[in-house]
Amino acid sequence: MNFLRKKIDRFFESRNVFRIRYLLNKIFGEKDLGNLGLDFSNKPTRQRIVQEIINLKNYQSYLEIGCYKNDLFDNVKCNIKVGVDPISGGTVRKTSDDYYKTNKEKFDIIFIDGLHHYEQVIKDINNSLHVLNANGVILLHDCLPNNVYEQVVPRCKHIWNGDVWKAIVECRTKENIDTYTCYADHGIGVIFKKSNKNILELEIKDFSKLKFKDYFYNYKKYMNLIEYSELRNLIFD
Ligand SMILES: C[S@@+](CC[C@H](N)C(=O)[O-])C[C@H]1O[C@@H](n2cnc3c(N)ncnc32)[C@H](O)[C@@H]1O
Repeated sequence: MNFLRKKIDRFFESRNVFRIRYLLNKIFGEKDLGNLGLDFSNKPTRQRIVQEIINLKNYQSYLEIGCYKNDLFDNVKCNIKVGVDPISGGTVRKTSDDYYKTNKEKFDIIFIDGLHHYEQVIKDINNSLHVLNANGVILLHDCLPNNVYEQVVPRCKHIWNGDVWKAIVECRTKENIDTYTCYADHGIGVIFKKSNKNILELEIKDFSKLKFKDYFYNYKKYMNLIEYSELRNLIFD
């Protein structure tokens, strides 16, 4: 079963399928507005950010949703570590939805990096908020796409963030959580379980309908973009 699933996944992630989808998007998709020019090369890595937060806060428990080759998971030093992935890496071979159905543990820090589709990410965030300790933090990978193709679903490029950004915009409109995006490692979303200090007012109910052009022209405000130095200060707020 797992073997068949891997084969099907590999087909849909193949370069030829990406090429066809890319062409279809170029012709029928949202307008190509060019590149935002976000450059992550001199910014801190997710490995450094996660570990420094754990050390600074003396966090004891870490959960990672979506582990793949354990590039992050294996580098994290924390007393309790749980990694959830239906295909590879981590410690629990389940989808995040299945994991959360039965999980009874609580965590200090949760890194969400599973299926990069808005609908799944928003579910992962809500489920994570239920098991996050009061003083904890949720981080999300891949929140800052550089161009329209890097965020289109289904995936049409090797370098791809998915539309995780839409889930961050939705969180920015909620009163009971405080949400930021750190300019590092393809965009690290940051959610604290405390009241929103800078609420985003948007007249939209269905965030899946957001357009890339909304993000392209407003990403600093919509995503509440901060540098890592600012994130370090927020950690102690
Ligand atoms: C981008 S990779 C994770 C990379 C890893 N966190 C790192 O930092 O190196 C995404 C992973 O999410 C997993 N995934 C896909 N759908 C998932 C789901 N519903 N629940 C949990 N993980 C999922 C995939 O199997 C894949 O291994």
